[in-house]
Amino acid sequence: MKQTQIAIDGPAGAGKSTVAKLLSKQLNFIYIDTGAMYRAITLKALELNINLEDESKFTFIDNTRFEFINSKLYMDDLDVSEEIRTSEVAKNVSLVSSHLLVREKLVKMQQVMAENLNVVMDGRDIGYVVLPNAKYKYYITASIKERAKRRHLDNLDRGIKSDLSKIEAEIEKRDHFDSNRLHNPLKQAKDAILIDTSDLSITEVVKFIAEKIREDE
Ligand code: DC
Repeated sequence: MKQTQIAIDGPAGAGKSTVAKLLSKQLNFIYIDTGAMYRAITLKALELNINLEDESKFTFIDNTRFEFINSKLYMDDLDVSEEIRTSEVAKNVSLVSSHLLVREKLVKMQQVMAENLNVVMDGRDIGYVVLPNAKYKYYITASIKERAKRRHLDNLDRGIKSDLSKIEAEIEKRDHFDSNRLHNPLKQAKDAILIDTSDLSITEVVKFIAEKIREDE
């Protein structure tokens, strides 16, 4: 069988992980949420109580195992999908994901995970670093206001306490940090298709991408 890779990048809260998850279900592809991996490493670093500023302390990644099953992330055989969404992790993940050593190790793991599989992978650097040869590349974005509103509603849905203006400030700060860091910043690959979801529903975006892929394959 011919392998198909779909790379989806974009800023926090633009709807890319919802799009990627639904798309993977419709096409029967494996969904790899790379943001969840950076969050999980941050969670483990917090549990190990290491100095998050010191990238040499992150060698523990070599002994960490990841697996995606039904869009859930298992780290060392434990489902961490909920735990990685806490504000403690959200606050520290930009710092952790800015370390070159962390990125090199996770990018390698992500490339190995995507080998010989039909995958939908989402993140910040998928189209131009992790899967530069992916056949389909999308850059999904939306206005900061819209993104903050969505994350807020999502938090309320999950029963997590939420403050809209705080989220807006947090997203703005994270965008700035993620786009300006030295190693693999958030960036649209030259050959990626830009989709602004501010005025589009998730269903419309998924339909647009899925139709294109079904037409070709
Ligand atoms: O997609 P997310 O919000 O769960 O991502 C969490 C953090 O991980 C975000 O601050 C950026 C970082 N990240 C990254 O640097 N590279 C990726 N490929 C995915 C996420």
